[in-house]
Amino acid sequence: MQLVTSTKKMQQLSLLLRRKGKKISFVPTMGALHKGHLSLVKKAKRLGDFVVASIFVNPAQFGPKEDYKKYPRDLRKDKELLQQAGCDLIFAPRVEDIYPEGYLTYVNIDELSNKLEGASRPGHFKGVCTIVAKLFNIVQPDFAIFGQKDAQQAIIIQKMTEDLNFPVRIIVCPTVREKDGLACSSRNSYLNTEERDQAKILYQSLKLGQKMIKAGEKNPLKIIKKIRELINNQKLAKIDYIALTDTQTLEPVRKIKGELLLSLAVKFGKTRLIDNLKICV
Ligand code: PAJ
Repeated sequence: MQLVTSTKKMQQLSLLLRRKGKKISFVPTMGALHKGHLSLVKKAKRLGDFVVASIFVNPAQFGPKEDYKKYPRDLRKDKELLQQAGCDLIFAPRVEDIYPEGYLTYVNIDELSNKLEGASRPGHFKGVCTIVAKLFNIVQPDFAIFGQKDAQQAIIIQKMTEDLNFPVRIIVCPTVREKDGLACSSRNSYLNTEERDQAKILYQSLKLGQKMIKAGEKNPLKIIKKIRELINNQKLAKIDYIALTDTQTLEPVRKIKGELLLSLAVKFGKTRLIDNLKICV
């Protein structure tokens, strides 16, 4: 497995591989890897001939009060995990090479980026779209693999790819969870024992919502209310949002029908966790 830090070298290598007819599959990450990330690498291996994973904690997608500085970083462990998962190349650029002094160009996506996560984290998706667009140009993948864990991110990247004509196929993989249902996340490492224990309510509450829908409940407000009550029983939980939206427009639904996204963001202490379920009626 190779480690590349230079953007030029990465681009040259990708061009060479493409000229040889190899299909490149690409997994963008911010490192601190867990089972969720590794499931994407395994999918990447099945899809293409050459697997590139990027590790880059992208400052442009963190708000000024967010955890950019303390975001977990462990390149040595990440390398080991990626090697075991069958990754061929790690692309780990330096911040100065991605955003050199005088950097001015950003990719913004209208409407979709102001909802849900975007409403709570202004500018977040501008940062995500910018780095992903840059990585697509540097790595030039045939396939790019994302997780359903960040449902809105996956929808936005899909839209950006279509709108900007990137010749990349976007693949979205299911959320990988711990035994008690908590979605794997690099941020779970911030939780203390009590917070970690209470955080399992997130998946339980999504499942409750799903159960109500499957049982025929048609009023989204009733479902959200029930979920709110369940989460509020956990002393350490502070709800940011609970939403039942259309899976494409991310607009709140008035009536339960078709394909829906039930999503939430909840803080436990200083740690903000997100999760979601796609539900079909
Ligand atoms: P990061 O949070 O490191 O996640 C990298 C990829 O792993 C994303 O596609 C995310 O949805 C996926 N992922 C995270 N947890 C998962 C889980 N439990 N199950 C399945 N997939 C999971 O998302 C980002 O980084 C960044 O925004 C990035 C796209 C790299 C741009 O900076």
